[in-house]
Amino acid sequence: MSLKKKNILVVDDDYNTLDLIQRHLKPFSYHIYKASSVNEAVEVLEYTSIDLLITDLNMPEINGLELIKYSKEHYPLLPKLVITGMPTINNAVEAVRSGALDYLTKPFTGNELFQAIETSFLKGEKNPAASKTTEEMHYAGMIGSSDHFKNLIEVINRVKNNKVNVLIEGESGTGKELIAKAIHYTGALAKKPFISVNCGGIPESLMESELFGYTKGAFTGAKESKIGLFQAASGGTIFLDEIGNAPLSIQTRLLRVLQEKEIMRVGAVDTEKIDVRILSATNSDLYKMVLNGTFREDLYYRINVVNIKTKPLRDRKEDIIPLVKSFIEKYTVEYNKHNIKLNEEVHEILSRYSWPGNVRELENIVQRMIIMSDDIIDMQHIPENLKYHLPEKKEQFKSLKEYEKDHILKILATVGNNKTKAAKILQIDRKTLNQKIT
Ligand SMILES: Nc1ncnc2c1ncn2[C@@H]1O[C@H](COP(=O)(O)OP(=O)(O)OP(=O)(O)O)[C@@H](O)[C@H]1O
Ligand SMILES: [Mg+2]
Repeated sequence: MSLKKKNILVVDDDYNTLDLIQRHLKPFSYHIYKASSVNEAVEVLEYTSIDLLITDLNMPEINGLELIKYSKEHYPLLPKLVITGMPTINNAVEAVRSGALDYLTKPFTGNELFQAIETSFLKGEKNPAASKTTEEMHYAGMIGSSDHFKNLIEVINRVKNNKVNVLIEGESGTGKELIAKAIHYTGALAKKPFISVNCGGIPESLMESELFGYTKGAFTGAKESKIGLFQAASGGTIFLDEIGNAPLSIQTRLLRVLQEKEIMRVGAVDTEKIDVRILSATNSDLYKMVLNGTFREDLYYRINVVNIKTKPLRDRKEDIIPLVKSFIEKYTVEYNKHNIKLNEEVHEILSRYSWPGNVRELENIVQRMIIMSDDIIDMQHIPENLKYHLPEKKEQFKSLKEYEKDHILKILATVGNNKTKAAKILQIDRKTLNQKIT
């Protein structure tokens, strides 16, 4: 158990209850944060590091169950305690099923509340999810501890010994290339070549000869015949990075390779058999490209026999600390600064930031902080943009009323603010329209 003061977020639409709880808990050393709606609670969770969530179930607009479900998804390790004035078996069961650890019915004494809180902390520590995620995993240069990371390793293990084509999709910096290498170097083809091709980096005019090779005299300058990258990868893996950038002409050629398992060099008349595993990666939405006609559908299905989607770092925050730890180890060795430590506040900022550049950005920042400091990394070493960057908004809970107002404003904007027209479209009268937007 840590001795750090625990942060408790209490959510209730009734200010009296909020005050009562705060008074009950005054003798104990907790920091109490209060929120009177689910929306407010979501904001607090986003900007503060909360150790326990206590929520009422019955609240107007969005009820506490939704908050339990939301926080279970976004903060799986956060213990959750439900309080309610209307205990029914059904909502008790549903709250627990949705992720609450415990249930307390109003009215309660300060002591009952304290007991319930401490039990929740204890249960939280024993939560299998908590022990599971603190376990760090290292695999072929990849580090993580989230369930997502574990699933990733599982899929890599399933595909690495088969010559199955795998498409790896995900935001930039999430480790797609690392996954491709892990599949190759830990699998049955490890001793065979691994050839990486950046499909966005080769001019279209050169791409065909680069990939498939050419024969002597195929074009001016082709003094000797040359094998292409596909043949160089023979028996091993070819990694088609940024496959979404492959021009349509090349897509057609690739499809042929996949279907016939043979290639034809530029200038050649005969085909040559080829045996390679194809791993592809993209950070664009390839399926969308199929729908709008910029990526061949038949090729999409051929390269996408197994699909791996990498989650952005902000959606698997449990991986941040193990990654930070390993980058610190790496760069303290590299720069010969062995006694560097991170202070608590810095840890928290790194855990909370939304990391638009994902693991690559995290690694760069840690490297930079190590260069800039001598012993303790503290706030002065944190780049300004991290300090002031507000985390990306997660899904907003809006009331129907707000949605209605948004919708009306949108319609108004499209009709040049003509209220009569807008009212007609919305099938309400002008007076109602005015009421709804004030
Ligand atoms: N799980 C991880 N453990 C350790 N390092 C990682 C992990 N994931 C990514 N990295 C590091 O982050 C950087 C970016 O990873 P990688 O190049 O594989 O990402 P990517 O998804 O291919 O990005 P892009 O789409 O921009 O090419 C690399 O330096 C890589 O070593
Ligand atoms: Mg990459």
